[in-house]
Amino acid sequence: MSFKIGNLVIENKIILAPMAGVSNSPFRILSRKYGAGLVFAEMVSDKGLLYNNEKTIKLLYMTDVEKPMAQQIFGSDLKTMVEAAVYIDKNSNADIIDINMGCPVPKVAIKAQAGSALMKNPDLIYEIVSEIVKRVSKPVTVKIRSGWDHSSVNAVEVAKRIEAAGAAAITVHARTRSQGYSGLADYDVIKAVKEAVKIPVIGNGDVIDGPSAKRMLEHTGCDAVMIGRGALGNPWIFREIDAYLKDGTILDRPSHEEIREMMVSHLDSLVELKGEHIAVLEMRSHGPWYLKGIEHATQLRKQLSQTKTRNEFVNLVNAFFK
Ligand SMILES: Cc1cc2nc3c(=O)[nH]c(=O)nc-3n(C[C@H](O)[C@H](O)[C@H](O)COP(=O)(O)O)c2cc1C
Repeated sequence: MSFKIGNLVIENKIILAPMAGVSNSPFRILSRKYGAGLVFAEMVSDKGLLYNNEKTIKLLYMTDVEKPMAQQIFGSDLKTMVEAAVYIDKNSNADIIDINMGCPVPKVAIKAQAGSALMKNPDLIYEIVSEIVKRVSKPVTVKIRSGWDHSSVNAVEVAKRIEAAGAAAITVHARTRSQGYSGLADYDVIKAVKEAVKIPVIGNGDVIDGPSAKRMLEHTGCDAVMIGRGALGNPWIFREIDAYLKDGTILDRPSHEEIREMMVSHLDSLVELKGEHIAVLEMRSHGPWYLKGIEHATQLRKQLSQTKTRNEFVNLVNAFFK
């Protein structure tokens, strides 16, 4: 079940996606604990790193427990992208440097011409990847989309340039930038990329459980699957997929007590890392995600999205699950 990125052995085929505001150290630790073979940290801005922006530098925080871990950077300027990658290479304990070529949000893709906007410029992609590969010692990977829009699906061409530039693996989120997160991921694009390159290909888009992970692996031949939204409020997904891929076992969903404990311990690890105020703000999103599918939780969801303190959050959760 293992595969390799450069010389790094990844113990299984199940990977946590980079998600801004989500894939921070506490969530990566949970994901590893529950069975992710590799975790991606959320993107950090190249310029933020080079200007020593305090918020950006804080995003680099990681612990050894969550290794192997990939740190993602985004930007569009060759010089600052290379400098940011060199910074990560020297100052971070991350195992992989990943380059974001998939982010669709206007601030990144339009204003900064970064993320998915790079898909429009394969020459620049080649330049950025090859310069970074030359300058760093960690393996370099790239996360792309299918293309910019439906009339310019160029993942195969871009993947070939990325491989030629010396990258160690490619992740394909099989949607175009103009699709955003809507519609279905097109697994044929992942399959075509896998057939076109020799480096490992990580498939991404709409994997939400064991059967969907198996479907993606079988349909595309990809080396591993990456999970984003399916892991929100659901770190158990990694052990569930692992069990299913091993022998078709469908594990029971977590009990209410497991969910309660997870909500409290997730909050407490965020408090430790970021302080109570930011932790509670982040749990305003995580809280309702944990309650997805639980009956009679409408009022609690609303209350959690307005909590102000750690104790208020814990009391509400304990009262609901008692
Ligand atoms: C809240 C959120 C934040 C995200 N942030 C990033 C990011 O920082 N870098 C990145 O490459 N993709 C980011 N993505 C995209 C995911 O990594 C992934 O490609 C996408 O959600 C599709 O996978 P899924 O269907 O498993 O969710 C983000 C997605 C979500 C939902």
